[in-house]
Amino acid sequence: MLTCRKTPPGLLAAPLLVLLRAGTAAAQAPEAAAPARAGGPDTQVMLFWFLLTTLLLVLLVLLLVFVMVVTTMKPQLRQLYALPTVHDTWSGKVLGLLIGDPRLVTGEVKNELTDHDYDGIHEYDNDLPPWWKYGFAFTVVFAFGYVGYYHVARAGQLQTAEYETEMRQAALLVSTVADDPNAVTTYAALTAPADLGAGKALFVTNCAPCHGASAEGKVGPNLTDDYWLHGGDVNHVYKTIKFGVQSKGMVAWKGKLAGKQMLQVASYIRSLRGTRPANAKPPQGEVTRTL
Ligand code: HEC
Repeated sequence: MLTCRKTPPGLLAAPLLVLLRAGTAAAQAPEAAAPARAGGPDTQVMLFWFLLTTLLLVLLVLLLVFVMVVTTMKPQLRQLYALPTVHDTWSGKVLGLLIGDPRLVTGEVKNELTDHDYDGIHEYDNDLPPWWKYGFAFTVVFAFGYVGYYHVARAGQLQTAEYETEMRQAALLVSTVADDPNAVTTYAALTAPADLGAGKALFVTNCAPCHGASAEGKVGPNLTDDYWLHGGDVNHVYKTIKFGVQSKGMVAWKGKLAGKQMLQVASYIRSLRGTRPANAKPPQGEVTRTL
């Protein structure tokens, strides 16, 4: 039993780390219309669930061991609890809860009446339940944090503003001219780390074979320099990605990637500008302003 109780830190830390990494990787995996691919996110998702299940099983076993220890050692725990130095301390109350004394949750319940008398109605002199008191204190602390964050620092968007932002983004992505190959969209490049991360994941699986892992250029052009065949601002890049350059071997990703994914990968490409990867392919096209 003792060995079992000693294992947790090491045993838990490793799967947890992997779990966290798998979690972020899964969160970056594209949501819809991703082309079929080997290995990739599916394996990661399975690994994630496998590790989660293992972790839960380990926790369950630990819980069982804990319950067994408490049940077998109950007499000793009772003796310990009875000690005056232990009985009224915080940890003593936790111990009490384990062996069936709910004082930690209910507070002192003496059920002694006070001498108040309101038309025959009496009241007990009992404590407020501690969970209630701490909950109340927490709401006060939380309120300060909330007011500071939303109203003083104005760091977060309130409901209406959040709604409006979402609607604006949605409207952008359902642009009416979206399917005209000659039309250039007016999207703003995405800058959120989550979007750039998703763009990177999409790039690695779909584009790296032709453009190189660091976009240094292979069959397709270098995407990190200032030279562009079809325009280097995010909307021209978006257009090239969406409709491709079929005659030159650049795939049209429309229907294979969702609109948001194409914008994510276009924004990721924009973020690579000037990174000067090794083995960069010589410039092709003309210098264009990269917005
Ligand atoms: C099968 C190979 C191939 C794949 C896969 C591919 N590309 Fe290309 N890409 C090309 C080629 C070839 C060109 C050059 C087209 C030309 O000469 O006009 C190109 C051009 C481009 C351009 C225009 C560059 C410029 O100079 O204007 C962009 C942007 C681009 N690709 C992005 C992507 C992205 C993003 C992906 C993945 C979603 C991707 N490509 C996948 C082959 C590929």
